[in-house]
Amino acid sequence: MTSPPDPAALDTAPYTRPDRATTRAVTGEGPALRAAYRLCRRITRRHDPAIYALVQLMPAVLRPACWALWAAVTALDDLADEPDVAPAERAARVEAWTRALEHDLVAGTSTDPVRHALVDTAGRWRLDLTSLQGAMAQTRQDAHGLRFADWAAWRAWCNKEVVPWVEQARHLFEQAGAPMTLRLDRQADYERFVDGAQLTDVLTDLSTDLAQGLLLLPQEALESFPGAETDLLQGRWSPPVAALITELTALARRRVTRPAMTRGMHPGAAIVLDTAASLLRAQLDAIDAAGPILLQRAPRASLLARVRVLSPARLRSTLAWRLTPLTVPGPRRPAVTANLPSPAVDDSGLQPPPPHLSGARPPQIPASRMPAHVAIIMDGNGRWAEQRGLSRSEGHRAGTAAVQEMIHGALEIGLRHLTLYALSTENWKRSPEEISELLATLRRELAENPFRDLDVRQRWSGRPERLPQDLVHLLRHEEARTRDRTGLTLTVCINYGGRDEIVRTAATLAQAARDGDVEPHLLGEDDFTRYLPLPDMPDVDLLWRTGNEQRTSNFLPWHAAYAELHFTPGHWPDMDRRDLWQAITEYSRRQRRHGAVPAPSTTPEIPRTVHSHPNCPPDTDAVKLSGPSPSCSRTGVSARTQR
Ligand code: IPE
Ligand code: IPE
Ligand code: MG
Repeated sequence: MTSPPDPAALDTAPYTRPDRATTRAVTGEGPALRAAYRLCRRITRRHDPAIYALVQLMPAVLRPACWALWAAVTALDDLADEPDVAPAERAARVEAWTRALEHDLVAGTSTDPVRHALVDTAGRWRLDLTSLQGAMAQTRQDAHGLRFADWAAWRAWCNKEVVPWVEQARHLFEQAGAPMTLRLDRQADYERFVDGAQLTDVLTDLSTDLAQGLLLLPQEALESFPGAETDLLQGRWSPPVAALITELTALARRRVTRPAMTRGMHPGAAIVLDTAASLLRAQLDAIDAAGPILLQRAPRASLLARVRVLSPARLRSTLAWRLTPLTVPGPRRPAVTANLPSPAVDDSGLQPPPPHLSGARPPQIPASRMPAHVAIIMDGNGRWAEQRGLSRSEGHRAGTAAVQEMIHGALEIGLRHLTLYALSTENWKRSPEEISELLATLRRELAENPFRDLDVRQRWSGRPERLPQDLVHLLRHEEARTRDRTGLTLTVCINYGGRDEIVRTAATLAQAARDGDVEPHLLGEDDFTRYLPLPDMPDVDLLWRTGNEQRTSNFLPWHAAYAELHFTPGHWPDMDRRDLWQAITEYSRRQRRHGAVPAPSTTPEIPRTVHSHPNCPPDTDAVKLSGPSPSCSRTGVSARTQR
C-alpha cells in the first residue's frame, strides 16, 4: 500500500461526473496528485464500502479529502496488522510511515501516493495534523497486540486511536464553512456513537483478528460468558460465544442509536451521521444473522438493506447540501512545517517557560507535599480597574498577563493540573458590554496563544450555549491540538457552573441507566466521576481565590469537596507566578486529614527552605520562596498581594 501504485491499476473514471470541475479545484491539476486522490478513493471503496457510501453523501468538494484521510488510516492499519511479519517489524514500519509523513509535510509533497494526497489535503484545508500523533503512536503499539482489562481501557484505546481521525473530518467541514459542527452539548452522545461504531467494526473483523490471535474485546465483557474467550481463540462457535455476540451487538446498537445527537445540526451533516447510524445497525443485523460464519469471514449487510438506507439518504443529502454554499479553499498552502511533531521525540518543538523577570526560581517542594491540582478563582479584575479609573474590561485585559505568569510558574514548579475560572454561568448577569469585551479578550488570547510552544495540554470546561461559535471552535481546536502533551494540564472554565456540571453528569448517568450501561443501585462516587465531562480531572488539592472574597462561587463543587482553601486580598491583575508558588508553599505546610485522626508520626514534614535571592534571608521555621522578599511572607497572604 505504501509503494507507488501501478498506474494501470488506477481508476481513471471521474470522481462524480456532475462535480468534476469542482472536484478538480480541490485535487489539483497535476496528474500525480489526481492519481493519488484516485487511489485513495479506490482504497476507501474497496476497504470499506459503507464509509465510501457515506463519503458520497458529502458535498463533492469534501470527498477527496475524506478519501485521503481514510486511505491514510487504512495504510497505517494495514502496516500494523500485516500478517506473517514480526510485531517489532510491524511497529517499525508504522513508525517509518509516520516519520515519512512528517518529512512530507515539511516538503509539501510525497513520493507515496496516499501521503501525497494527505499532505495536499492538510495544506489545502489547513488541517493541523498534530492530534494524529497520538493515534499513530497507538497504532504502533497495536502492532504488538492488544489486551483490555475493562471497557474503560477499551474506550481509552478507541479515543486515542480512532477519535483523532474523526476529529480531522469534523475540522474539514468547519474549514469548508459548512455549519455542520456537532452541537457540543451532544458531546457525550457523540462519544458513545463513536464507541458503538468501533465495537461494530471489531465484531465485523472478528474472523480476521482471530486469525492473527487478536481478540479486541475487553476482558470484562468476555468474563461474563465463561468459556467464550477460549472458544473464540480456538475458532469454535459455542453457546457462550453466541450469547456474547448477541450481548455485544445489542450494546453496539444502543450506542449507535443516538437520535438527539444530530438535533440542531446542519441538515446535510445530520443526514451523513444518521445514515452512518442506520448502516451500522444494518451491519449489526448482519453480524447477528451470521452465526458461526462470523468466525470465518466478515459479514456484510445485504444489498437490499444498504439500498434501503442509502437511496433516500442520497436524495435528501443532495437537497440539503444545496442549501449551503461551501467555501472551496484557495491555492494550497506551501510546505507545512510544524503540523506533525515527531512522534518518537514527543513534542520536540516545545520550549521551557521564560523565567520570571526578577530571576526568581520556584521553591523546592517535596513531591509528597506538592498539590496535584491547583484551581484558581481569578477575582478582582473589576476593582483593580476601577481603582485606576479604568473600565472593568481593562481589568479583564490586564488579568491575561497574570494568567500567563501562572502557567509559566506552574510549569516551573512542576504542577500537573491547573484549573482557572474565567467566566461563570452566573456572570451573564453582568452588562452585555462587559461580557462581550471579556469574550473578546478570551478569543484574542486563544488566537494569539502565548502557550503554543509550551508543554501545556489545554482544555475547556463549561457549556457551549451562549458562547460565540468561533470561540467554541477555537477552544475545541486547541484541545485537539494539544491533547497529547504531557506537561501541565490547563483547564480553563468558561461559562462554567459547578451545579450545572453536576446536573449534566446526573443526566448522562440517567441516560446510561436507561441504555442499560449502569445499574443505578450499584452506583458509587467513582462511577459518578467517570461520567463527569472531564473524567480524568483529579480532585482539587488547593483552591485559591484572589480579590479578598471568601467564597467559592459555584466553582468545582465536586472536585473541591476536600480542597485546602487559600484566600488572598490582592486583585488578580497584580498576581504573578510567585504568588502561585507562595500558595503552593503554604499548602505544603498544611496537614490534610480527610476525616482521619493522624497518627503522631504523621506530623507534617516542613519543606526545606530554598533561597536564591539576597532579599530573602534564611529562616528556620518558615518556608521560603526563592524570589524577592515580598513573596517571603510568613502569613500565607503574600505581602505583594497587599500592594
Ligand atoms: C473576575 O473579576 C473575573 C470574572 C468574574 C470574569 P471580577 O470582574 O469579578 O472583578 P471584581 O470582583 O468585580 O473586582
Ligand atoms: C467568580 O467571580 C467567577 C470568576 C472568577 C470567573 P465572581 O466575581 O463572578 O463571583 P462573585 O459574584 O463574587 O461570587
Ligand atoms: Mg468578582
